[in-house]
This record gives sequence, structure tokens and C-alpha cells, in this order.
Amino acid sequence: MQTTTTDEVQAREARHILQTYRRSPVTFVRGQGVRLWDAEGREYLDLLSGIGVASLGHAHPGLARAIADQVQTLIHTSNLFFHPLQGQVAERLAKLSGLPRAFFCNSGTEAVEACLKFARRYWYTRGEPRTDIVALEGSFHGRTFGALSVTSDEHYRAPFAPLLSGVTFVPANDAKALAAAVTKSTAAIIAEPIQGEGGVRPLAPSFAAAIMEASARTGALVIADEVQSGLGRTGRPFYFTQIGLAPHLISIGKALGSGVPVGAALVSQQVADTIAFGDHGSTYGGNLLACRAALCFLDELVGGGLIAHVGRVGRHMEQRLKALAAKHAMVQEVRGVGLIWGLQLTRDAAPVVPAALARGVIVNRTAETVVRLLPPLVITETEIDEGLSRLDAALGEL
Ligand SMILES: Cc1ncc(COP(=O)(O)O)c(C=O)c1O
Repeated sequence: MQTTTTDEVQAREARHILQTYRRSPVTFVRGQGVRLWDAEGREYLDLLSGIGVASLGHAHPGLARAIADQVQTLIHTSNLFFHPLQGQVAERLAKLSGLPRAFFCNSGTEAVEACLKFARRYWYTRGEPRTDIVALEGSFHGRTFGALSVTSDEHYRAPFAPLLSGVTFVPANDAKALAAAVTKSTAAIIAEPIQGEGGVRPLAPSFAAAIMEASARTGALVIADEVQSGLGRTGRPFYFTQIGLAPHLISIGKALGSGVPVGAALVSQQVADTIAFGDHGSTYGGNLLACRAALCFLDELVGGGLIAHVGRVGRHMEQRLKALAAKHAMVQEVRGVGLIWGLQLTRDAAPVVPAALARGVIVNRTAETVVRLLPPLVITETEIDEGLSRLDAALGEL
């Protein structure tokens, strides 16, 4: 690979890349475990894992071997034919989620898109074509039109109006507002069990109970968006079980491929029975390369003990973050579980990101005033200590 300096990379991008991303001025060229190195040779501890994606860390030897083997065997054949791996991934996801069927796609937003389409198809097949959706304030479900329509942030929505009609937003954890919004015209209620982009805000079990009650009363389907919170991130396979949701549809992505793009909609039998050949599709979705990566990740997650590991190191991380909050007055609250954490600041969190980078640690700002941490699931207690002491120094500087 051609190595270049950050200045050269930036100059080329400024000419040719559509400017939709305000990138930090760092060019990463290499990774190992939870560490990354930039083009100038500086080392960083990665407490963000590419926004919750590099679940096995960087350059994981088992994943690298599996991908190399698959690339030399067969990468892609399309969904016109069978291949041996897609059913295996679906079978394992069914065991983890309790939902027996999977539709594979390539990203989180596509997984949400598929869930929304399947919810509409369910009501269409039943001869009662409901189209309304109830979603939550503070939600983020993706950037394609359907997913954007159930994402609450006006900043993302306004330039692309009109979006899907019939979407009502209710405040998260407001059971009364939810009960009033869900009617016999509601096709589905969509919620993130932990709102990630919204600032790492877990839903209250009492609110999950209200969602299930509204679903039982009206027949509305429940979609759990576990793209960020799912697949081990919380020290459990999924977070919906923890709060008592029983979804008919689940969207997943991010961690599943540990960097290889793959997402899925997991579907209950009740919904699956209403779907027909040709209702949805994807050229790439669930190809051999994506499924081989997913199988490698699921091996580590279940057989390799990664879920229990996240539970253990997550408790350690919680203690360390609470100590950090006690030390820095600007940290008002620590929210999260396992390896998904948000530090609620009393001020804009934007300056924390460059200060942390300067100290060699990667974190992210979300919901304006929240510092978000989503480290690789393989991170150790020692690496957590090292990363957080760098963050401690960065916070001290501000
Ligand atoms: C809960 C949730 N849903 C959907 C998405 C969209 O995923 P992607 O960016 O892979 O399309 C995200 C991305 O952050 C997410 O956090």
C-alpha cells in the first residue's frame, strides 16, 4: 500500500471526496488489537472501534486467516444461488436472539429499512394495510429514507423532506405519551434498547413494558434496533432481554462483521409467514465473505467467551469512569453498561475529541454534550486503564 502523509491525504480528499464528513485530521494506516497507528507513526488506544464495529479489535489473527481463506476460495455469488455459510450465520443468530429467520444486508440502515418494510408487508398481507410508525425522540436509525424517517434529529431530516408520512415521535421513557400515540393504525413501534447516537441512554424496563402493553393492545409490531447495542456490546447477546422487550423484528449490524460490512434483520415466524419471494433483496447481502467474517465473530462471541469477558471488563470500566467523573467537575453523569458508555458533560464535548487524540486515545462526541466510548469487545482491563488515564489527562487539560 502506498504510504502518504496526512497532509497529502487531506489535500487529495479536499479535491475529490464529497464533503459529507468533518474528519479529525488523523490518517490511520495500521492497527493491532485495540491500538492504531497513524501515517506519522503515532500510536493511539482505540476506545471507539470505528463506532462500535471493530468488535474483535484490529488485525485479529483468526479473522484475518478466515477472510484470507475465504477470499482465496469464493467471495460472492449473489442471492440467486445457495452457499454454505448464510444459513449457518442465521442459525446462530436465531439461537442468540430467539427470532428464527434472518434477512442479510450490508449495513445498519439497511437492516432498519428491511424491518420497516417487513412490518408494512405484515399488515398488507393480513389485509389491513397499516403504515404508521411510532418512534422515539433522541433516536438514530440511519440515513436512508425509511431509517431517516424514524430518526428524530431535525438536523439530519430537514434537508431531505418530505420523509415517510405517519411517523410519530414520543419522548423516550414517557409511557403515557407512548400509550396515547400507539393506535390500531400503528404498524410498528421502533426503539433502540440503548439510544446510542442519542447520548447512550438505556430505555427503562417500565417503558419497555409500556411498549409491550401497547403492542398487545393494538397488534403493533415491535422493532428493536440493536445495531449499536447488540451482539455482546452490553455483556449480553442483546440488550432487549435485559429491559424486557420481546421484539418481532431486530436490526443488527456494526459488530457482526468486525469491520466487514454486514447487517441483518432478524424476524419472528409470525412476520416471516407474511413475506413472499421477491419482497426484498440485496445483491451483496450475506455473501460468502460477509458470512465468513460473521461466523468468525460469532465463534469468538459465544465459544470464545467474549460475552462473559465484556461483562467482566465492563464492570471494571464502569468503576474507572465513575472515578474519572468524581475527579472532573465537567463530567455530570456516567451512563452505559458493558462496553458502551457515555460521559454526560456540563458543556459541549467537541473539544474533548482533539484533546484526547493529542494524548493518544480515540473517543467520540455524540448528542453534543456526551463523550462516547465503544471500545473493541476484546479490550483488557490493563488497556482500559491505559486508555482512560490518557482520557483523564485530556479532560484535565480542558
Ligand atoms: C442504533 C443504530 N441504528 C442504525 C444505525 C445505522 O447504521 P449504519 O451506519 O451501518 O447504516 C446506527 C449507526 O450508528 C445505529 O447506531
